[in-house]
Parts: sequence; structure tokens; C-alpha cells
Amino acid sequence: GTVAVLAGGLSHEREVSLRSGRRLSVALRDQGLMVREWDTDAGLLDRLRQEKPDAAVIALHGGEGENGSVQTVLEMLGVPFVGTSSRGCRKAWDKPIAKALIENAGFATPEWVALPHSTFRELGAQPVLDAMVERLGLPLILKPDQGGSALGAQVVRDAADLPAAMVGCFAYGDTVLAERFVDGVEVAVAVVERDGGPQALPPVEIVPEGGVYDYTARYTAGLTDFFAPARLSDDEADAVRELAVRAHSLLGLRDISRTDAIVAEDGTVHFLEVNSSPGLTETSTVPMAFEAAGSSLGEVFADLVQRAVV
Ligand code: DAL
Ligand code: MG
Repeated sequence: GTVAVLAGGLSHEREVSLRSGRRLSVALRDQGLMVREWDTDAGLLDRLRQEKPDAAVIALHGGEGENGSVQTVLEMLGVPFVGTSSRGCRKAWDKPIAKALIENAGFATPEWVALPHSTFRELGAQPVLDAMVERLGLPLILKPDQGGSALGAQVVRDAADLPAAMVGCFAYGDTVLAERFVDGVEVAVAVVERDGGPQALPPVEIVPEGGVYDYTARYTAGLTDFFAPARLSDDEADAVRELAVRAHSLLGLRDISRTDAIVAEDGTVHFLEVNSSPGLTETSTVPMAFEAAGSSLGEVFADLVQRAVV
């Protein structure tokens, strides 16, 4: 049977997704699978009907590939797929919702406010920004509430830089997530479902040379140092793995996910976000975690395809 690897799409992360899709397709072919690489567009529904793949693998990032839209189409047509259901995607994709659910479960996450654009129109920009700084302190981080690859995200150290940073963030969506800045070790923890349930892989530590893990630092080889496994104490590593497994379950994620977290200097683990379709590029952390666990991208995904079709 054939496997359709869905990549591309029209989100801001299109280029990243094409790289993930390319690498994944090569890895799955190496495992002996018949793979077709699809650049996902408005013709998806018709194409699925005509070609009837035995399974699909989501290598889309951002937008319709991570917000549950493409997953809804696959569910509607009964095409088995690797990745999170449409319902899980809707929760995980919205950063404030994910943070609230994780916080309610007793985990730490940097204090935050979510600011819809209309707030500024209704209350005036300066009073809202002042209240935000009073609540979160400086530096703080602005992110689009839905988005990926750090696009639009900015660390703001000086209140004078806030208006411009806000405008940059609103370019990606209607609501900005502002978070308190937590200093510490940045880690990414992959979770893969096996027969025994979801299992966390070795955490990967991220050390961007410029200090900020932005889009360029993510996708340019050599601009970020990675440590797999992360240089954490056993207790810290256990804590981040537990967080990742719990986040996977609480947010309704399936097959594979990646939780991003900060281990603060006092050892507290702060949840940042979860990714239902983590990057699989040459510089992405999830394939590094597979290698650190003695496996490979192809092996893990061939197994997930197998599980999806039974
Ligand atoms: N959104 C990118 C692809 C990631 O989380 O890896
Ligand atoms: Mg993300």
C-alpha cells in the first residue's frame, strides 16, 4: 500500500514543512514503504478520493496542518493517519488554552496574558501595555497565540520597544500571547506512543549562539548547539519527561508530539508549549531525540504508520 506524506501547505511554515516532508519521505522509503510526497493544497480532498492512500502522515506545520482542519478532512474520508486527531489539534494549537490546561494539572508555566487586538482598540494601547508590564515584568516574550517556528515571537527587554514588537506579532494573527521571561535551560522533549503507551525520549537541550532560538537560529545549521541528551540532573530530566508525557495525554495528542520547556535555575520546569506536528528537518530536535534513543526517524515513523493502519 502507499503512504501519502502531506507537506507544504500555505502557512507561514510552508518551507519548513517541505523540508520535514522531504526528510521523512526519504526515511520512510529507506524502510521499504511506498511513499508519495504531496504538496498540500485546496485539491487535497479530491486527490484523497482519487488516489485512496492506505495512510497519510502529517508533515505540515502551522495553520490548517496543525489546527485540525486537514485532520478533519482525513477523518471525514476515513483515511488513517499518523498524528493527532482534529480534536486534539484544536486544543494543542492554541497556546493559551494549552498553558491553562497544563497549569490546571499542577505544572508550572510562565505567567501570561492573552491580548486580542480589539483590547487595544477599546482601551487604548498605552494603558494596556502598561498593565501588561506591571503584571509580567521585563523582559517579557510576545508570541502569536497560534503559530510555530518562533515566527513573530520577540523578547522585549525595554518597554519602549513594546509597541513595535506588538505590531510585529499581530502581523501573524489577532491575539498576542505575552509571557513572563523565564531564564534557564531550554529543552524539547519528544513523546512517541508505543504499545505500552506514550513514552518520553531523551530531552534535547537547545543553546542558540545568539541567545534567542528564533526562526533563523532554528533552521540554519551551525547557529544553534544541541545536546542530546540535555545536560540536566537526573531529577530534572525525569521532571521534563513526566511533563511531556502528561502534556501529551492532557492535550489529547496522538502518536508523536514535542513539548517545549524551560528548566529554571531553581530546577522548576516551566511548560512553554506543545507541538502536534514537530519539525523533522535536518536541524530539528525530534530526529535528534530518536538518534539519542538509539532509533531513527524512519524506524519511528514506519512503526507509527503500521499502528495507524491496523
Ligand atoms: N513548528 C515547528 C515546525 C516545530 O515546532 O518544530
Ligand atoms: Mg511550536
